[in-house]
Amino acid sequence: MEDKLWAGRFSKETAAAVDRYNRSIAYDSRMYPEDIAGSMAHAAMLAKQGVISTEDGQAIQQGLASILKDLDSGALAIDPEAEDIHTFIESELTRRVQAAGKRLHTGRSRNDQVATDFKLYLKHRSVDISRLLTDLISETLNQAQKESRTILPGYTHLQRAQPITLGHHLCAYAHMLLRDLWRLQDWTKRNDSCPLGAGALATSTYPLDREMTAHALGFARVATNSLDAVGDRDYAVELVSVLAMLMLHLSRWSEEFVLWSSQEFHFVELDDAYSTGSSIMPQKKNPDVAELTRGKSARVIGSLNTLMVMLKGIPLAYNKDLQEDKEATFDAIDTVTACLPAFTGMLATAIWQRDTMRAAAARGFTNATDLADYLVKKGLPFRDAHHIVGHLVAICSSRHCGLEDLSLPQLQTACSLIGPDVYQALDLQQLVDKRNLPGGPAPAAVLADIQALKQQLKQLQASALN
Ligand code: ARG
Repeated sequence: MEDKLWAGRFSKETAAAVDRYNRSIAYDSRMYPEDIAGSMAHAAMLAKQGVISTEDGQAIQQGLASILKDLDSGALAIDPEAEDIHTFIESELTRRVQAAGKRLHTGRSRNDQVATDFKLYLKHRSVDISRLLTDLISETLNQAQKESRTILPGYTHLQRAQPITLGHHLCAYAHMLLRDLWRLQDWTKRNDSCPLGAGALATSTYPLDREMTAHALGFARVATNSLDAVGDRDYAVELVSVLAMLMLHLSRWSEEFVLWSSQEFHFVELDDAYSTGSSIMPQKKNPDVAELTRGKSARVIGSLNTLMVMLKGIPLAYNKDLQEDKEATFDAIDTVTACLPAFTGMLATAIWQRDTMRAAAARGFTNATDLADYLVKKGLPFRDAHHIVGHLVAICSSRHCGLEDLSLPQLQTACSLIGPDVYQALDLQQLVDKRNLPGGPAPAAVLADIQALKQQLKQLQASALN
């Protein structure tokens, strides 16, 4: 029972089932670098404030540095039976530097300690995710630039609608992902406050210098209200919601990769290095990366749900329910971290089937709106033009041909305003080129959008460094 930090007031051993149930070491041990950094900052502050002696402060620093080194190298193994990472490191410190180690927890609670470790850990991992996401956005823009002139059908209701360019289509995803990156950076700024010094719930009677520990740990400021500082998990909910939104975007895009790589669409051929086969059907080449991304988005959305439901009934301040924040949040982070490089690789190596896309755009009357617009320019009200073109589409459907395959006299029987210039108005390339409003599919508009997106990406990268 001596190994429990809180054993003093208890007269019985904890039941084995409770020990197992209570333990969080299996998943919170990954925060050991943050836990040690937090303890070093706390000890340095205690020594500076004269709460502990300079000698004890130094012994603690040296002890913690040696623990960090040994955990990093593997010389020290995490005890799977310890209650949590905070307990494990404090016990190990006391084993190494004896009495000084027992002074480390002065003016601190595991409640402000765990909140500090967790926030710091999430900050570190969010930087990694930002980097991976930036890679994906850059690759998306790279592909969009290469495919700025590639024509494909745009869809509504998954029915061919109007011709667009692949660059335009890819830029739509670049916009979504850029918003995700923006949200991630926004998250960092909003949650850049340090809970250390909040104590169990009501700060401390020791003259703690909260500014000093916050800055030593790289936080922009102190998380002031102590009840909020230890009870808050908004930062986890917010981060996982940003990640859930990112996975939502990747899941939608994955659905397209699955459809587009099918023989039915064949708009894209996935690289062998980013596809998998079947154990029974020798011919199969499956888009597993896309399918897994679509599937794994469920885990991240599930984690968001776990966090919100876990939090909704918790009174101030710390309650043990909060320990449940970690597995959900870590799983979301790990899932996104694993997904991004695989997805970026799949995109970078995708072989776009330009001819198939163009042929698909040429079928399915994607130029019907343009014929209606042509009639409007000849003076017809749009509603009448719409009706006439609908009639011509019905004729073409039964003859299995396109609007541009009808002869001029055939077209003129539907409307006498139609002249020989109609064929130009129906030409795929021309009608894409003409949609050159800002944000449109015309190659020129796409290239302008890519430049704007690159600029925004640069600005986000620069502001992340500040
Ligand atoms: N393992 C705990 C957690 O993750 C540490 C905090 C324990 N605090 C307490 N008052 N029991 O939340």
